[in-house]
Amino acid sequence: MTLADIWPVRRLRVTTSALELAVPGEDELAELAIRAAAGIYDPQSRFLARSPVAGWESGPSPQAERSFLRYYWASLADWRPSRWNLVMAVKVDGACVGVQEIGAQDFGITGTVSTGSWIARRFQGRGHGKEMRAAILHLAFAGLGADRADSAAWSTNAPSLGVSWSLGYRSNGTTIRAFDGARQEQINLVLDRERWESHRDDIAIHGLGDEVLELMDVKRAASR
Ligand SMILES: CC(C)(COP(=O)(O)OP(=O)(O)OC[C@H]1O[C@@H](n2cnc3c(N)ncnc32)[C@H](O)[C@@H]1OP(=O)(O)O)[C@@H](O)C(=O)NCCC(=O)NCCS
Repeated sequence: MTLADIWPVRRLRVTTSALELAVPGEDELAELAIRAAAGIYDPQSRFLARSPVAGWESGPSPQAERSFLRYYWASLADWRPSRWNLVMAVKVDGACVGVQEIGAQDFGITGTVSTGSWIARRFQGRGHGKEMRAAILHLAFAGLGADRADSAAWSTNAPSLGVSWSLGYRSNGTTIRAFDGARQEQINLVLDRERWESHRDDIAIHGLGDEVLELMDVKRAASR
């Protein structure tokens, strides 16, 4: 029995003509930890309110790298069918450029997923953010049969909002949060299955077997 036989989620991959989402192995985890620690925000930017992005932390090395690893391993350790979060490496031409996450609580009842993501700074602004979200939405709607996908971003985070608007999300109100000692407005976003219009025939899901669906509390018949 291999590790993937015991934990079949490891085999899950989503491929598009431009990139691949994959469950990271040890080498990929190290690459992502280094990228996360190197920083994902332009330090000069006065306009982008830094987000508390999952698994990313600035600070001295190697604490920042370890913080990413802890986050990753905690998401695995906490996995239950009733509450899971899948952290996938985003690979472009063999390099790990960032992270795309998808999670759900009681998916069999809610039919709802939420997503989060980051890309290493030098790979931002090249369309990868939109492409990886399109890939994870394909997994959610076509693979898991989701009804709805939620997301959120600070009102000042133009690239993150840009990804959501361009994929058809609509605003689902705002939440005011305290962050970094300041008042921050968060825009909540939702994409319903009806508004998810994927005409992409180049996106493929690999390794989504019955055991994985069980681990994700997917009870409905998906249209994959
Ligand atoms: C948010 C993030 C994942 C987006 O990925 P990206 O590769 O930089 O974005 P893309 O190049 O795919 O652009 C996506 C859309 O946003 C638009 N956009 C990108 N940067 C923008 C900016 N600075 N201002 C306005 N629009 C912008 C693009 O034009 C594109 O829209 P279009 O398809 O309608 O042209 C990436 O910038 C990132 O990792 N940022 C830091 C971490 C973060 O903020 N994560 C999200 C937390 S909520």
